[in-house]
Amino acid sequence: MPRKLMAANWKMFKTWEEACQTARELVVAVRKDLPDDREVLLCPPFTALRGVSEMLSRQEGFYLGGQNFYPAEQGAFTGEINPDQLLDAGCTYALVGHSERRHVIGEKNGFLASKVAFGLKKGLKVILCIGETLEERKQGEVQSVLHRQLEQGLQHISSATSPEDLAVAYEPVWAIGTGETAGPPEIEHAHNLVRDKLKSILNQAEQIRILYGGSVKPDNTASIISLDNVDGVLVGGSSLSAEKFSQIVLA
Ligand code: PGA
Repeated sequence: MPRKLMAANWKMFKTWEEACQTARELVVAVRKDLPDDREVLLCPPFTALRGVSEMLSRQEGFYLGGQNFYPAEQGAFTGEINPDQLLDAGCTYALVGHSERRHVIGEKNGFLASKVAFGLKKGLKVILCIGETLEERKQGEVQSVLHRQLEQGLQHISSATSPEDLAVAYEPVWAIGTGETAGPPEIEHAHNLVRDKLKSILNQAEQIRILYGGSVKPDNTASIISLDNVDGVLVGGSSLSAEKFSQIVLA
């Protein structure tokens, strides 16, 4: 069984100092009790990566991730960051296609597919985020949306991709930052769809971690994490506080 991945996405919150402080508090609160079958991932803003990396160094089970990157070696891409720069700052992981990248910044499946393939090629572990909007759910399109996002997002990678290098985060758009969580039946249904689709794309799909994200909180984590095919969580709002996120990590 792969270890459960308890991931924090700090989005565009926290200065360098605030991020380091939260990371420090989190490590202190969690390190003694972190079960062997769990790992912790922090995705702070780019400006705080290096500082948080220092807080996590030599802490068994703690990893650093970037929230995004651009799929090119280097070049004239003002405002962007490349995988080597993330690795250089101490990252092991990176998110690709977070709902806010798709719906606020306008990133499309084809572009995200190049990021997944390029990130893997450069040695990052990639977490591809997918999920339907409320409108799509109401139209009965959950399955077709998730299948399309996976098919297109993973179109450039090898079926032999190591399951340790790739994870998928199912985050229904209507549950992100809204306080609204998908219920256990909805989560299980979506995660089963994702698992089945992954089996048609990748050789070792059983081992790929599928995270749930969308208003995960200390009091709903245990019930979510125990569901079939849920191999971790991706947490926004509740990960900003070390106290809350430590409860989630240990739930
Ligand atoms: P939330 O965000 O936990 O605040 O709903 C989740 C995410 O955006 O990854």
